[in-house]
Amino acid sequence: MATDRPLTIALSKGRILKDTLPLLAQAGIRMLEDPDKSRKLIFETSRDDVRIVILRATDVPPYVQYGAADIGVAGKDVLMEHGAAGIFEPLDLEIARCKLMVAALRDAPPVSGRLRVATKFVNIARQYFASQGRQADVIKLYGAMELAPIVGLADRIVDIVDTGNTLRANGLEPTEMIAEVSSRLIVNQASMKTRHADIQAITDQLAAAVVAQRG
Ligand code: ATP
Ligand code: PRP
Repeated sequence: MATDRPLTIALSKGRILKDTLPLLAQAGIRMLEDPDKSRKLIFETSRDDVRIVILRATDVPPYVQYGAADIGVAGKDVLMEHGAAGIFEPLDLEIARCKLMVAALRDAPPVSGRLRVATKFVNIARQYFASQGRQADVIKLYGAMELAPIVGLADRIVDIVDTGNTLRANGLEPTEMIAEVSSRLIVNQASMKTRHADIQAITDQLAAAVVAQRG
């Protein structure tokens, strides 16, 4: 792989970008323009040898897996759903903390037969219910999971919960926790070898920034 191209960092818009930029700044990497005010997808940084690409959250793992980005930041939920092939996960950035939970309508009766589960995390949901010995039909949705039990599409949802406000506002309650989630630094396995010194230096600086952000 060519090592003269800039080291490429994949981030996603929204909370990961917002929470990652201060950490990167402490590692000496600053964006030269505000991505929220630009339609660009690829950005130069204060380091000539580092650039940032802005993707959908779920697209960060494949970019890193296939080496289109050397480094990325992704939620543990997205990583669990995608799988870890070709990816190292050297650092918990302790940002975008939330929980991956099963939820149901408040006081929903137990389901005796097959459960219908709506989620965008179909692999996680299938694995989780299989591990519990429960038969489940998993329906893939791309958003507004909380609506599914209200309109009778599903008995349960698997979704991200932080404050619980979205569940409460829709008459749902969490029933089981699947995993604690935070965002992770991920690294392409080949890049870890070919660009080891650079990547290790950034990882170490980010690790120090994570400790500092604990306050
Ligand atoms: P997209 O907008 O592309 O559909 P998304 O909605 O999952 O993706 P974000 O909302 O920015 O993108 O979430 C990015 C990551 O932040 C998630 O993968 C998860 O790890 C975490 N996250 C999601 N929702 C919350 C929340 N309410 N509080 C804290 N962290 C969250
Ligand atoms: C996420 C997630 C839940 C909500 C949970 O949505 O999909 O709906 O946060 O957070 P809460 O427990 O604090 O209410 P987000 O706000 O990212 O909007 P999105 O549906 O556009 O992803």
